[in-house]
Amino acid sequence: MPNIKFYSGENIPLELHKVRIVQKLHLVPIERRLEALYEGGFNTFRLNTTDVYLDMLTDSGVNAMSDNQLAAMMQADDAYAGSQSFIKLQKAVNDVLGKKYLLPVHQGRAAENIISLAYVRKGSMVPMNYHFTTAMAHITDKGGQISELLYPEAYVVNSSHPFKGNMNIEKLEEVINHHGPKNIPFIRMEASTNLIGGQPFSVQNMRDVRALADKYGIRVVLDCSLLGENAYLVLQREEEFKGSDMKTVIHAFTALADLCYFSGRKISSSRGGGMCTDNPDIIKELEAFVPLYEGFTTYGGMSVREIEAMAVGLYETLDKTMISQSPSFIKYLVDELDKKGIPVIKPAGVLGVHVDAMQVCAHIPQTEYPAGALAAALFLISGIRGMERGSISNQRDEYGNETYADMELLRLAVPRRVFTLSQIKYVEDRITWLYDNRHLIGGLKFVYEPPVLRFFMGGLEPTSDWPQKLIAKFKEDFGDSL
Ligand code: F0G
Repeated sequence: MPNIKFYSGENIPLELHKVRIVQKLHLVPIERRLEALYEGGFNTFRLNTTDVYLDMLTDSGVNAMSDNQLAAMMQADDAYAGSQSFIKLQKAVNDVLGKKYLLPVHQGRAAENIISLAYVRKGSMVPMNYHFTTAMAHITDKGGQISELLYPEAYVVNSSHPFKGNMNIEKLEEVINHHGPKNIPFIRMEASTNLIGGQPFSVQNMRDVRALADKYGIRVVLDCSLLGENAYLVLQREEEFKGSDMKTVIHAFTALADLCYFSGRKISSSRGGGMCTDNPDIIKELEAFVPLYEGFTTYGGMSVREIEAMAVGLYETLDKTMISQSPSFIKYLVDELDKKGIPVIKPAGVLGVHVDAMQVCAHIPQTEYPAGALAAALFLISGIRGMERGSISNQRDEYGNETYADMELLRLAVPRRVFTLSQIKYVEDRITWLYDNRHLIGGLKFVYEPPVLRFFMGGLEPTSDWPQKLIAKFKEDFGDSL
């Protein structure tokens, strides 16, 4: 956000938008929140929004939309094939992402499915800076494996490293040599690496990846879902791009990839997704899967209204004022929590604030899911719904053994232009209280574990009566406050 100084000296992010459509929220009593947790298997995905006060589960599909996006939705051209809305989207992809050909899909993971179907086989190895849950599930579903190649600093919670999402170039070359280039269908780079705290990689790192890919003749696939935010942080943090603009940085990234894909639910504050490239051969390799799994190649499972909103939303990604709102709020909250000694991922990244459950719940072993427990505890005492990004979100290995996550994070998403600063202050207040009472939080155990992507629908229960003890302390401190 532009640097607007306050006379008082207070350092707070100032909103450069106004709120014209509002939605009522409910803060239900703590007893109801406990019932809701039991009904939802202590899994915040399974909560009902009528029980949730601040929904910080994700930014996906819940970023605020602009007046221009809503207006565009009214002009959509409904047609099974050849819709003019699609032509507009193609132009937006061309202008914003700098790629000529576009294949639409219903959301980001549909692109992951199609890319994996086209390129991944049994014995394939896909190196990446870090996995995303759905990307990994689609690769392993097709018999492939993944290899995560971050530098050690990526796992340091209290860090000032500007690019924790950088690919470890030396390790990448080792993996290529070890598995052989012909077994590596593509290298995947994820902008604003989600599961390690929304951390960016630099343009220079992407250039280094490209150089190795060229040396060994391997494709580079760029997950652009959070590319806008990654580019925004490059403008702040990479010397070469200081004073540059969003479009230049975005194009610098996408020009280095053979194939880009995105979740429109994230990058364009809409729904849907897409895959884009300048390479007609890649289009031929992917195209046939779109009508089979998604819909005709001019709508890909999306409604034309969403396509219109996506086109406008893509252009708005280039607006620094818009793109900076969520990172500025995140930075504000990270700074305030950090001042109080509460362990959060630093430097502040994008998408949300990530609380380090490994430290907050150091008394809970990973076998009892500290990040899941922290997510449930925060919801119980505040009505704030975050998301577990730790071992519950990991998948079992090929032999069915648990794999414990490198980091146990409670992610509190800050969708674009959705929350006010007083709501962010409430989050700060309740996390602080919970931190001071963290010894009362206990573990969780699975009672229902789905075989794939278990974190979505899995059911858990507390390993003791810790929720009741937490409620008793809440009542002692807050009386009958909600
Ligand atoms: N890639 C990244 C980096 C993502 O963060 C997501 C989704 C996807 C791909 C898949 O896209 O949801 O449209 O199918 N992230 C959401 C989240 C779900 O909450 O972080 P999708």
